[in-house]
Amino acid sequence: MQPGKRCSTSYVVFGASLREASLNARLASLAATVIEEAGGTVIHAKMSDFDCPSYNMDVELKDGIPAGADRFRSNLISTDGVIIASPEYNASMPGVIKNLIDWISRFKPQPLKGRHALVMSASPSMGGGNRGLWALRIPMEHLGARVYPDMFSLAQAHEAFADDGKLRDAKLQKWFEGTVDCFLESVEAAKHYPLIKSQWIEFLGEKPTPATERVETSETAPV
Ligand SMILES: Cc1cc2nc3c(=O)[nH]c(=O)nc-3n(C[C@H](O)[C@H](O)[C@H](O)COP(=O)(O)O)c2cc1C
Repeated sequence: MQPGKRCSTSYVVFGASLREASLNARLASLAATVIEEAGGTVIHAKMSDFDCPSYNMDVELKDGIPAGADRFRSNLISTDGVIIASPEYNASMPGVIKNLIDWISRFKPQPLKGRHALVMSASPSMGGGNRGLWALRIPMEHLGARVYPDMFSLAQAHEAFADDGKLRDAKLQKWFEGTVDCFLESVEAAKHYPLIKSQWIEFLGEKPTPATERVETSETAPV
């Protein structure tokens, strides 16, 4: 944020790990602090808030979409953006976050369409879990999310945090704050540019038919 500029945007922020002592939850908390210090508002969520059974279309048709997915959808549509700090599991994203994305993709309108997102990761490894973020971007971008190009992957995360929740390494802390700030500014700019339109078209068949197509457009009246 530029000095004197206040951020007027809101975010849902969470770590995509069910583990109590999650490093990614700590990184998500740090992102929430940066947002609040810039004047933005945050829904501090936990992966367990959005817990869902494994996706099964029979369950969906019988019982509907589960409460955890509905909670995530409400958080998404009541805020301007989402920040996910996700572990890397076996060079990809954890099943629990993919399962949540699969469930929320079943809502119409599709709640990730046009949603601003920043993804980050923390891992004890030297790679910081960055490969998992490239996997996580795929379903999010497929569903129309505007996933911010920059990402932040914290290597050796088990040793990276100080007692106050910040990163011990001052340079890394500065870079982290810079990445979050740049994201906030891009969300704020998009929010206040009233002519942005978006279109999302998903073809699940070779030939589009009503049975396979999902198309969502948005129009904004000129001011
Ligand atoms: C099933 C499993 C697979 C993992 N695969 C990777 C991996 O591919 N790359 C990596 O950097 N760390 C991997 N790890 C280590 C995690 O990065 C580490 O457990 C991390 O702390 C998990 O995130 P959390 O602390 O937020 O729960 C894996 C851990 C588990 C349990």
